[in-house]
Amino acid sequence: MIARSQIIGCGSYLPARLVTNAELAAKVDTSDEWIVERSGIRQRHIAADGEMTSDLAIAAATRALQAAGISGSAVDLIILATATPDNTFPATATKVQRAIGMKHGFAFDIQAVCSGFVYALSIADNFIKSGQVQTALVIGAETFSRILDWTDRTTSVLFGDGAGAVVLRAGRGKGSSQDRGILSTHLHSDGTHHDLLYVDGGPSSTQTVGHLRMEGREVFRHAVINLAAVVGEALSANDLKASDIDWVVPHQANRRIIEGTAKKLGFPMDRMVMTVEWHANTSAASIPLALTEAVGDGRIKPGQLILLEAMGGGFTWGSALVRM
Ligand code: UT7
Repeated sequence: MIARSQIIGCGSYLPARLVTNAELAAKVDTSDEWIVERSGIRQRHIAADGEMTSDLAIAAATRALQAAGISGSAVDLIILATATPDNTFPATATKVQRAIGMKHGFAFDIQAVCSGFVYALSIADNFIKSGQVQTALVIGAETFSRILDWTDRTTSVLFGDGAGAVVLRAGRGKGSSQDRGILSTHLHSDGTHHDLLYVDGGPSSTQTVGHLRMEGREVFRHAVINLAAVVGEALSANDLKASDIDWVVPHQANRRIIEGTAKKLGFPMDRMVMTVEWHANTSAASIPLALTEAVGDGRIKPGQLILLEAMGGGFTWGSALVRM
């Protein structure tokens, strides 16, 4: 028998305020038609004034704990993936720790932008497999609205705010792909593409927060190649075929990236969980938001095999294969 990290609950939170493409078209030179055709996005949620990444994270974490039927004091580890923390330090995860009443264990943030949730899941899985942690809360939470240049039509129309969380608990398995839990994770980064997607500020460079800058067309090209490769890696590591996967829960950046990856790998689109239309790109929050939606509406069922995949600034990219 081997240790397996099992997902025992998930939860998400979206800020109340909805911003449509039409609303953005009144501010910058764009149109609903262009945004829908090029990205698939129709609307995004934007945090209210004073509503911070920690507020979104705490709401999602609370719902995930409720779904798991455990209290915050049972959590040993919190990993919060975010590129938009409340403060430069301390980690926003420690605010979640305080809010859920967790007094032991440890909490920290990780930064891998849109791949952050897959990175955080992989780190938590390794803590559980090593026996150091029994129960972990893995969160993706972002307020990208705070780092967008709202005068730049090439980036401001693509992102939204939100949070999602899962509770992982140590279980046992036989070491086969029939086991419940995380079967494998696969992480990559390539620092040579730093300048294609970055924020032009930070404490050590400009002493400002900065704004997101992106060469969209180039990022798109790399995304389809890297995502197809890292999904292929997850399948071959577990000796599985595309047809063995019940659902792919992709990072939600662009409908056309998801379609391109599905086509390259031979996944039918009706097995791809899609939320980009309604959430836009919520960076590290997009996968747990989509996962919570598909679990909540009954599409993803216990025992099914799901594949998570993401790509973001750095570049970073990764995948995780999980039996629910
Ligand atoms: O989360 C991971 C990181 N992000 C991504 O994965 C995003 C990756 N990239 C993309 O999703 C797409 O590249 C975009 C949606 C950003 C852009 O789509 P595209 O089909 O690659 O368009 P493009 O950048 O090639 O731009 C086409 C045209 C340009 O005009 P010209 O040069 O052809 O005259 C742009 O100036 O569309 C123009 N354009 C716009 N027009 C109306 C760019 N943004 C807008 C806009 N509204 N918002």
